[in-house]
Amino acid sequence: MNLRTPAAVPLLLALALLGAGCSGGVEGTPGAVGLRDPYFPGLGNGGYDVTHYGLKLDLGPSADELSGPSTDGPSGPAADRLRGTATITARATQDLSAFHLDLAGLDVEGATVEGRPAAVNRAGKELTIRPAAAVEDRLRKGRTFTTVVRYSGSPQAITDAGGDKEGWLRTADGAVALGEPTGSMAWFPGNHHPSDKATYDIEVTVPDPLTAVSNGELVSRRTENGRTAYLWRTTEPMASYLATVAVGRFTTHQSRTPEGIRLFTAVDPESAAGSRDVLAEIPAVLAWSAERFGPYPFRSAGAIVERTGDSTYALETQNRPVFPGPPDTALLVHELAHQWFGNSVTPATWRDLWLSEGFATYAEWLWAADHDGVPIGKSFEEAYADDANWAFPPAGPPAAGDLFSSPVYGRGAMVVHRIRLAVDDDRAFFALVRGWTKAHRHRNAATEDFTAYVEERTGQDLTELWDTWLYGESRPPKEG
Ligand code: TRP
Ligand code: ZN
Repeated sequence: MNLRTPAAVPLLLALALLGAGCSGGVEGTPGAVGLRDPYFPGLGNGGYDVTHYGLKLDLGPSADELSGPSTDGPSGPAADRLRGTATITARATQDLSAFHLDLAGLDVEGATVEGRPAAVNRAGKELTIRPAAAVEDRLRKGRTFTTVVRYSGSPQAITDAGGDKEGWLRTADGAVALGEPTGSMAWFPGNHHPSDKATYDIEVTVPDPLTAVSNGELVSRRTENGRTAYLWRTTEPMASYLATVAVGRFTTHQSRTPEGIRLFTAVDPESAAGSRDVLAEIPAVLAWSAERFGPYPFRSAGAIVERTGDSTYALETQNRPVFPGPPDTALLVHELAHQWFGNSVTPATWRDLWLSEGFATYAEWLWAADHDGVPIGKSFEEAYADDANWAFPPAGPPAAGDLFSSPVYGRGAMVVHRIRLAVDDDRAFFALVRGWTKAHRHRNAATEDFTAYVEERTGQDLTELWDTWLYGESRPPKEG
């Protein structure tokens, strides 16, 4: 679902690759190869909105390999071999003669569109699908069409612009997929821009005794010949960078919060003792967050805790964040706050990331004020005094490699606090925050949507606040 679309204008003349798209009398043109994100111009694709992904991932040795000479135990093969089928339901936003998907690595064995074999072309991370002429009229603007891509190979980690590893990460006993900002294309083809949210069915088959955990709710589990298929269903819209799969030997636990939110946690046994107490806080953190940020946006929650050192960063993967080892309470609060800020209200482009990280950091300050006796003003002072927060304005990281740096987090939180000071009334401030998450629930939002919303709700002209704290290059006087 593309609920707030940056103008989808072709970046490159895909026509050169595809030829003029009007064979068979249908006047379609190829969808754009990218959505012109300010940091990743080629990320995502134009001409269609995905409504649903059905992913079937088979991990580990194939039946042939199993019957052959011995393999090196569940960890190696389970991490290294993927056979996938992606069934992608999308709505055309123009008359399409061809369209792109993003996919990094892996081999594409074939694709169909509307059940007919389609031509497939690969160039770097762009997968071009050209439907059979016989089904071109099913890709007219406004129509919904289904694409099936069969693929396989050894999924890889991607080093992102900031130097961190994401994508498909091997762990001691399996793998974990982390997708922020562009890693999800390492394990499934799709429209990998945060503006195109969709629902997901993710079915992962792994050799016993491994468990496969993903987003949403576990709807079925079938074991056959020593392999178990776990089907996870995400019925609320999800941006692809928030999709995850974690494969390993996990201790799992299911329960419900007093409010009826389903909880599912999966913990590496080595991290179990270290995370027991903090995971027990999830219901309290969710209830506390709901009071401040509005109703929890999803039907289920939880956490995935890896073995220390197995993955690089914590990520607010939808419903259940991934932690690279037992988290502390502040990190838990941060990742759970992202379920509102980031996962439900998703940045329209990667430039709007401060709307996620600023609020998630501010949630940590709020928690510390309510639980640890740290006045919010002190958290603000500390962030203000930290030179790292002043490297650039939160609404304008200089390059993709700066997206996950201090100004987006700490100075983003400072912007939120300056709004609170401008509102000068805590009840009104939290009503403003709840109104924000409500207005954009399960959608996308840009910085300009936020500033316009705050000005409208408060009736104040906050130009100076934005110019100084959000867009300004240098540290303003504190009174400013
Ligand atoms: N968004 C994650 C968080 O704040 C962190 C994250 C994603 C990250 N990608 C990163 C941190 C790359 C450092 C580097 O919880
Ligand atoms: Zn964060």
